[in-house]
Amino acid sequence: MSIEFSYLDPGKVYAGRKQFDCEHAAINKFVHDSLVSQVKKNLIVANVLTDSDHGDRLVGLFTIANHTIDATLLSDLQLGSLPKQIPCARLIMLGVDKAYKGADLGRRLMKQALLITKQASAQMGSYGLYLNADPGAVNFYKKLGCLLLEGDQSPKPSPMFIAVNQIA
Ligand SMILES: CC(C)(COP(=O)(O)OP(=O)(O)OC[C@H]1O[C@@H](n2cnc3c(N)ncnc32)[C@H](O)[C@@H]1OP(=O)(O)O)[C@@H](O)C(=O)NCCC(=O)NCCS
Repeated sequence: MSIEFSYLDPGKVYAGRKQFDCEHAAINKFVHDSLVSQVKKNLIVANVLTDSDHGDRLVGLFTIANHTIDATLLSDLQLGSLPKQIPCARLIMLGVDKAYKGADLGRRLMKQALLITKQASAQMGSYGLYLNADPGAVNFYKKLGCLLLEGDQSPKPSPMFIAVNQIA
């Protein structure tokens, strides 16, 4: 396995994209049907992992976009006085193909999302990274420094956040 990171190029054909299976139906469907068109329309940026030992097969990805959250969502974090609307980045989709799970690729994707969040905040005001974690992924995100905003909402998704000044 020889894994490479890149921004998704919407003009390129990615081997294995239509077969991508991270064992999460909504993310799989998004990757198969909507990923490329949303990148083309500049609605999201996607970072992809490809395996050059297997014909540059698409094996993992995340998508990220600008977002705004209501400051009340952050009240448990006791961050002091904030305006009502908080500009942030939002991690929308994250998945690793089932054949590649457990090999640290999810962590690499999240580290890259955090790096992008931090770098973007130096160019345009952004307080941190927001995401809605699936019940099965809450502890994964906790390991990467994300905090639950309203407790664990299982079986519903749980809002989570990491402030830029907490990103290593
Ligand atoms: C969640 C996901 C991205 C993790 O990817 P992965 O490549 O298997 O994870 P990694 O190998 O990078 O794991 C990094 C660490 O997180 C842990 N971890 C991985 N998945 C976890 C999970 N679901 N819950 C808790 N911990 C998890 C690993 O044990 C590892 O911990 P360690 O540092 O103590 O060894 C992957 O399982 C996936 O695609 N899931 C389906 C899609 C999904 O749920 N996406 C999130 C939607 S919000």
